[in-house]
Amino acid sequence: MFRVNDNFLKLSAGYLFPEIARRVQAYAGAHPNLAPRIVRCGIGDVTEPLPKVAIDAMHRATDDLASRDRFHGYPPPTGYDFVRTAIADGDFRSRGCSIDDDEIFLSDGSKPDASAILEILGNGNTVAITDPVYPVYADTNVMAGNTGAAKAGGGYEGLVYLPCTVANDFSPALPATHADIIYLCSPNNPTGAVLDRAALTRWVDWAMARGSLIAFDAAYEAFVRDESIPHSIYEIDGARECAIEFRSFSKIGGFTGVRAGYTVVPKSLSGSASDGARVALHPLWHRRWATCSNGVSWPVQCAVAALYSAEGRAQTRALTDFYLENAAILARACSALGLHVHGATNSPYVWTSCPQGLGSWETFDLLLTEAQVVITPGAGFGRCGEGFIRISAFNSRANVEEVAKRLSVLGAARVVSR
Ligand SMILES: Cc1ncc(COP(=O)(O)O)c(C=O)c1O
Repeated sequence: MFRVNDNFLKLSAGYLFPEIARRVQAYAGAHPNLAPRIVRCGIGDVTEPLPKVAIDAMHRATDDLASRDRFHGYPPPTGYDFVRTAIADGDFRSRGCSIDDDEIFLSDGSKPDASAILEILGNGNTVAITDPVYPVYADTNVMAGNTGAAKAGGGYEGLVYLPCTVANDFSPALPATHADIIYLCSPNNPTGAVLDRAALTRWVDWAMARGSLIAFDAAYEAFVRDESIPHSIYEIDGARECAIEFRSFSKIGGFTGVRAGYTVVPKSLSGSASDGARVALHPLWHRRWATCSNGVSWPVQCAVAALYSAEGRAQTRALTDFYLENAAILARACSALGLHVHGATNSPYVWTSCPQGLGSWETFDLLLTEAQVVITPGAGFGRCGEGFIRISAFNSRANVEEVAKRLSVLGAARVVSR
């Protein structure tokens, strides 16, 4: 009989968001009169229409496909040159980072990229992730066989966990043990914390000294407003030799449904083959794309390029400003209740303490049943997430203002500052 991938059997209880969906559905089913009141601030999906430049570009590109002269078939697997140039110029060279056009690999999003990258990395790497963490880094490594079994109290054997707590301001300390690959995410999902230049420099120096790889996820880079915070790991000397970077158009351009992102793989980055030979990652990633993908559609690539025009930049700035203002409204509401608020300034996520005495799933249930508000319980992101909830600012202004009022049920839960 054919075999399945046993690694999938190691995955512990359902991925966080299906569990949230299950609870919300159960509640809505049991309370049909209250179901229409439910406001979702759980999953980080955007709500606002796409920037007009992207819509216009997709309309024009669709018309191209209706014309024999302007028709586009299979795209290059790693993106059209004009799109890669727009990205390399707009996101990197304009910030003083030396990134070549052909080091940009356009894709259908950074979640698929975070998974696919494991195809070109060897077996047996020791992987470090933060706790709390975007669950995809852990689960894709479980699926790839880079971990042992799920542990009783949460987490997996074989993964190195780097606690992010109030004590370290949610900036992980360097691992005490060896790690070959470390995932860093800034601005962070779920904590909203940002890694400053000093922290990123420490990580790059650490990785360079050990021959380790940093997988830097900058999916929320567009929310950084503090001028001193790096937008890219390539702002740090040495990063071209030890880091790849994931970027997404989901939040900056509202592309969660359109699907586009990219990964930067510098040509100067190399790892080790099993015989000890040094092997550059760039040709492997190129080969992976050429073999496994036929690229991103013409309308979507045109929409991506449009985001880099002067108009596009103004429109994405307005869009991200809008969500940041939502985050500020939610953060003020939580603070007014005496909760300790983190994130929310360079990030669309409000990471806030639970009312004293309540766990994060209890807080989730309280908000669902008493306020019909869906948030994400911190424990779903890891053990160190217990005691916190994540409130997403991706919503309409009307919903955010409503949620800000309804959060008062947390005050009724006899909040005492932590
Ligand atoms: C940290 C992080 N990386 C990547 C993604 C996924 O991005 P994409 O929509 O481009 O797949 C998300 C989505 O929520 C995220 O939070």
